[in-house]
Amino acid sequence: MNATQQTDTDRYAVIGNPIAHSKSPIIHGIFAKSTAQVMTYETVLSPLDGFELTVNNLILQGFKGVNVTVPFKLEAFALCDIKSANAFMAGAVNTLLFADGKIYGHNTDGDGLIADITENLGVSLTGKRVLLLGAGGAAEGVFQPILNQNPVILTIANRSLEKAQKIVNKFISNERVCHACTFEDLSHQAFDIIINATSAGLTDTALPIPDSIFAKGSLAYDMMYGRETPFIKQANANGATVADGLGMLIEQAALAFKVWRKVKPHTSPVIQQFRQS
Ligand code: ATR
Repeated sequence: MNATQQTDTDRYAVIGNPIAHSKSPIIHGIFAKSTAQVMTYETVLSPLDGFELTVNNLILQGFKGVNVTVPFKLEAFALCDIKSANAFMAGAVNTLLFADGKIYGHNTDGDGLIADITENLGVSLTGKRVLLLGAGGAAEGVFQPILNQNPVILTIANRSLEKAQKIVNKFISNERVCHACTFEDLSHQAFDIIINATSAGLTDTALPIPDSIFAKGSLAYDMMYGRETPFIKQANANGATVADGLGMLIEQAALAFKVWRKVKPHTSPVIQQFRQS
């Protein structure tokens, strides 16, 4: 770690609507302390029709960067002067850096997921059969980073096939690896890593997925955290190892912190602290 002691207090924030529930100020507060960075991090509620104005006001106030959450990740993408490769492939941005009079856009969600699976859970995606459930913004944001890990198969299943197919079509050069299908098409298929990127857990709704998808020794990962979703219950009942998205939340925050401060904080103590509380 190359933490440098700062003399001025740099300001950061997370913008969303709603935003009061956000855990980001606590997470970044712990990161700042552990890396000796002098900075503040606050929540900013943006009007639904006023995202660009909100960002411009923060820039005028001297903010150095922001995280962006629901529902503004697409608008943030449109606002950037320069986009990272992951932001470009996701078509969405969760981290903005304000520097040299420009807005730099990053998407740390996918690499946050990969860090949680490979480093915290100790599971490699390389050579594995991976199933991604859902084809909304959350799924699109992690598709390229999963592909970068060289799975042998990456299947994306969604209620409406068109949305899953649209994501796969972006990766036409990987047509032997990437497949799109509906939930019904999953019968008799088995996977080593199953990632739930649907929002069905929010309403406690079970997905119409067959038990057969959970191969022996598989990992079932729900990008949602803080509740035992029907997906996690089903995975548990089928003997899979299960994980929720708390680690991903903290890892994507650490990667955003690194974009701003050029230092990567340790994440495991923070994950432990959140699990205990
Ligand atoms: P997010 O940004 O969280 O990805 P989103 O873009 O609205 O939110 O996408 C939500 C995803 O969850 C979609 O893939 C959606 O399926 P459809 O594209 O068919 O709408 C999926 N989803 C939500 N509720 C679901 C349910 N009850 N059963 C199956 N899929 C569901």
